[in-house]
Amino acid sequence: MRRLLFIPVLALAACGPAEAPPRPLTAEQSAALSPRDPRLAQLYAGSCKACHTVKDSLAPLTGDRTLWDPRWAQGEAALLSAAIQGKGGMPAGGQCFECTPDDLKTLIRFMAGREDAQ
Ligand code: HEC
Repeated sequence: MRRLLFIPVLALAACGPAEAPPRPLTAEQSAALSPRDPRLAQLYAGSCKACHTVKDSLAPLTGDRTLWDPRWAQGEAALLSAAIQGKGGMPAGGQCFECTPDDLKTLIRFMAGREDAQ
C-alpha cells in the first residue's frame, strides 16, 4: 500500500528539478539582453533585436520564455527553418545577411532563453 502511494511522487521527480515558472519580460528587460559572444551580439543588434525587443512587432520578445516556450515546443529544427524561410511577419533570415545557419541556431537559443545571455 505504502509503495503504491510513492509511485506518483517518483513520476513527478523524474521530470527533473523543479524550475521556477517563466515570467514575462518588459520590452526594456528584453532589450537589455545580448548574446555573450561579441560577434553574435553584433549580428543580433543589427537584425533580430529591432523586432524581437519591440512588443508592437508581434515578434516573441527575446528572453521571454512565456512567449518562447510554446514555440520552442515545435523543436529547434522547426524554429531554424522558420528563421531561414521566414514566417508571417518574420522575414527570411531575420534580415541578417551575414548569419550562417549555425549563427541563426545559436541566436534562436539565446532569444528563446536557452543560452546564457550577458
Ligand atoms: C522585421 C522584424 C523581425 C526581424 C528583423 C526578426 N524577426 Fe524573428 N520574428 C518576427 C515576427 C513578427 C515573428 C512572429 C512570426 C509569427 O509567428 O507569425 C518572429 C518569429 C521568429 C521565430 C519563431 C518562429 C516560429 O516558428 O515560431 C524565430 C525562431 C525568429 N523569429 C528568429 C529570428 C532571428 C534569429 C532573427 C535575427 C537573425 C529574427 N528573428 C529577426 C519578426 C522579426
